[in-house]
Amino acid sequence: MQYSFSFPSGHVQYFFGEDTGQLHKIARPDTTILITDEHVADVLPEAYSRYRKVVIPPGEETKSLQHLATLTEALMKEEAHRATKLLGVGGGVVTDITGMLASVYMRGIPFGFVPTSLLGMVDASIGGKNGVNHAGQKNMLGTFRQPEFVWYDTVFLRTLPPEEWSNGFAEIIKYGCIADARILTTLQDSDVAFYQQHPEQLADLIQSCADVKNKIVHADEQESGLRAILNFGHTAGHAFESIYGLSHGAAVGLGMIVASHLSVKHDGLAPEFPEQLRGLLTRMGLPVTLDFSVDDVMTAVRLDKKRDEEGVKFVLIQQPGVAQVKPLSFDQIREGLQAFRDECGH
Ligand SMILES: NC(=O)c1ccc[n+]([C@@H]2O[C@H](COP(=O)([O-])OP(=O)(O)OC[C@H]3O[C@@H](n4cnc5c(N)ncnc54)[C@H](O)[C@@H]3O)[C@@H](O)[C@H]2O)c1
Repeated sequence: MQYSFSFPSGHVQYFFGEDTGQLHKIARPDTTILITDEHVADVLPEAYSRYRKVVIPPGEETKSLQHLATLTEALMKEEAHRATKLLGVGGGVVTDITGMLASVYMRGIPFGFVPTSLLGMVDASIGGKNGVNHAGQKNMLGTFRQPEFVWYDTVFLRTLPPEEWSNGFAEIIKYGCIADARILTTLQDSDVAFYQQHPEQLADLIQSCADVKNKIVHADEQESGLRAILNFGHTAGHAFESIYGLSHGAAVGLGMIVASHLSVKHDGLAPEFPEQLRGLLTRMGLPVTLDFSVDDVMTAVRLDKKRDEEGVKFVLIQQPGVAQVKPLSFDQIREGLQAFRDECGH
């Protein structure tokens, strides 16, 4: 199945479950250079063997200016020119740096993505944000530029480590919370193992999530309004991630619990929702409690990009599937964190 989406900065084609012969048409092996990381390079199916490859180390540290420079030199060595296409095959690290490289190499060359992690499929490969980290800050340097296409090949998920499945599910649950409550209903009676054993249901779920993100980005590509709701759970989540070294999915899951408590208090969300959310996160292999310092987390929250003098623009949900951004004072956020900490029994 294929469809396309038009964004202000470009037109993107999405391919789900298509024959790889088609991939060779949209990214011809003789004019395309494949960029991937060492883990994915080890499990690349036969269909990808026809491409010239540049392999980078796995992990977030690779999303750096230093690796952008190394990749630039690798492209120069391959005599890549303006008509050369880049094919980023990997998780969000690979697609973010491939998109960044393609945006700036010779002032821009065409590119497409094959996301291979669940998070990449539902989130990182969609939306046209590319970038690298710098001086300890995530995505400090980046571009808004859409890939020509995103190619979904769920065969990659067979080798994805368990923790990465949970990371992806945290974002899937987020889409249910902010934009499409049917996703939460779908997840109600399942767990990670169910989706690992039912590829068709998994493919439907991935497609629903891609659709949610595409529609949000379509409405607000440059994040001047609506797109900010994609940060649900991320304000406290980023703080938990950076202070306690949690995985992104685990941290966002906990951040969503905090945000749903704040939503009950400040946005009229039904009081039973946080408990339902905990049940869902637990089934997807994500933690629902944490022993943390409210003071330390507040220090990190005060550094949030969405803050002003009085507080932070926080993503809240009125009901599952309906989100909005509301200013909350630092005192209100502290209260929400304290309530979550008390509930965790610490
Ligand atoms: N551009 C965006 O809009 C956007 C959105 C969300 C996240 N991101 C970025 O995405 C990154 C996180 O992405 P991620 O969670 O995919 O992390 P990742 O790219 O680090 O991949 C996670 C791990 O899984 C491995 N892996 C990936 N696919 C595999 C497969 N099929 N088989 C075996 N191993 C596989 C990778 O090698 C890596 O070790 C972060 O840098 C984040 O900032 C970007």
